[in-house]
Amino acid sequence: MSNVYEAMTTPELDEAIRQLEEQAAQIKARGLSLDMARGKPSVEQTDLSRPMLDLLSSTADLTDEGAPADNYGIPDGLPSARKLAAELLDVDAANVIVNGSSSLNLMHDAVCSAYTHGIGGCEPWCRQGEIKFLCPSPGYDRHFAVSARFGIKNIPVAMTPVGPDMDEVERLVESDPTVKGIWCVPKYANPTGFSYSDETVRRFAALKPAAPDFRIFWDNAYIVHDLYDEGDSLLNIFDALAEAGNTNLVYEFASTAKVTFPSSGMAFVTASPDDIAGLRAAFSIMRVSPEKLLQLAHVRFLPNVDAIRAHMKKHAAIVRPRFELVQEKLEAGLADAGVATWTKPRGGYFISFDGPEGSAKRIVALMRELGVTLTGAGATWPYGDDPRDTNIRIAPTYPSLEKLGEALDVFVVAVRLVSAQLAREAREA
Ligand SMILES: Cc1ncc(COP(=O)(O)O)c(C=O)c1O
Repeated sequence: MSNVYEAMTTPELDEAIRQLEEQAAQIKARGLSLDMARGKPSVEQTDLSRPMLDLLSSTADLTDEGAPADNYGIPDGLPSARKLAAELLDVDAANVIVNGSSSLNLMHDAVCSAYTHGIGGCEPWCRQGEIKFLCPSPGYDRHFAVSARFGIKNIPVAMTPVGPDMDEVERLVESDPTVKGIWCVPKYANPTGFSYSDETVRRFAALKPAAPDFRIFWDNAYIVHDLYDEGDSLLNIFDALAEAGNTNLVYEFASTAKVTFPSSGMAFVTASPDDIAGLRAAFSIMRVSPEKLLQLAHVRFLPNVDAIRAHMKKHAAIVRPRFELVQEKLEAGLADAGVATWTKPRGGYFISFDGPEGSAKRIVALMRELGVTLTGAGATWPYGDDPRDTNIRIAPTYPSLEKLGEALDVFVVAVRLVSAQLAREAREA
């Protein structure tokens, strides 16, 4: 649909801007303070896991299959915790390490170890000159921050509704030995909510990297975060690797951060036997042993994947109305304006919004003036540099439905006002 502001006569456009500025002034006068910035579960969601806190007491049995949870040791994680993670990822528990409460922390440490000590006997990345990571964009800002922190050059790759542009991924990975990694969120990606198609997963699994120490960082953060009974399906990357006759290519990560408690969940990683041995060796120096009491509480609260799925349905009942409200408000407020597109995820934590070229920074700044905090424009691109300045990440989970509705009403006015101003500036230029 064409942009209504571009189609207006100049007097019509001036009048539209005048009315929108008046609406913005009225909003500003309300002194709002709303936050749609980060993907955090709401209080109702974290409350769902409070019963877990009652499961460990001073009289509880603090062993798991004979393994003590109240002392050092068991570096790969409690047996039940490894089994649970393996069941969730549908992999062999022997290749799973459960450690720490943040999967991002495990990703960081995997990059760090490759950087300082190398992967599979290859030269450490720090001694290989300029090296690169591919960053499907829009993507997760904290992924990009990890590789950037090590001085790794982040290269954006286009994201599509079925996953990253695989022609580009294959071309770069298979021709350039300085490409050492790619950040992937294969299900309900942050921020688009797109899930990779079977073909995309198979093409990843069949990659023939130019660098023997190239790895796919497969961050399955939203593996069980479906909003509807029928979730997006995702091919198991390790099954696809076996089919393709490939190995030593993927580190897969996940956590219960958004199942139980962010920053107090269980984080895990799985990889091929060789690669997991490499990570085990690195982690054994970085850590003494994992947070096993937290693991014990988790496996008693959520003993198997069926229990996790039942628990996630309770999350979905809280999150789904918020996602649906975003769709209703954007549809009602913007569909006729022809200035924006947005994704309609069936799970995960985010909705990705694209306004007119050159609008995102201005919309986010205007929203702040009007009392609503959004994720910084550009955050979804490496180095914060969205080349067309269109993308805004909407994080609808944390505010109450009422506050979310208010914030979205403000958003609609901000998007319309900035779009109309851009149309006038283009005309005046
Ligand atoms: C894709 C993705 N991976 C990882 C994380 C963080 O997970 P954790 O708390 O396990 O470090 C997030 C949080 O927003 C995320 O969106």
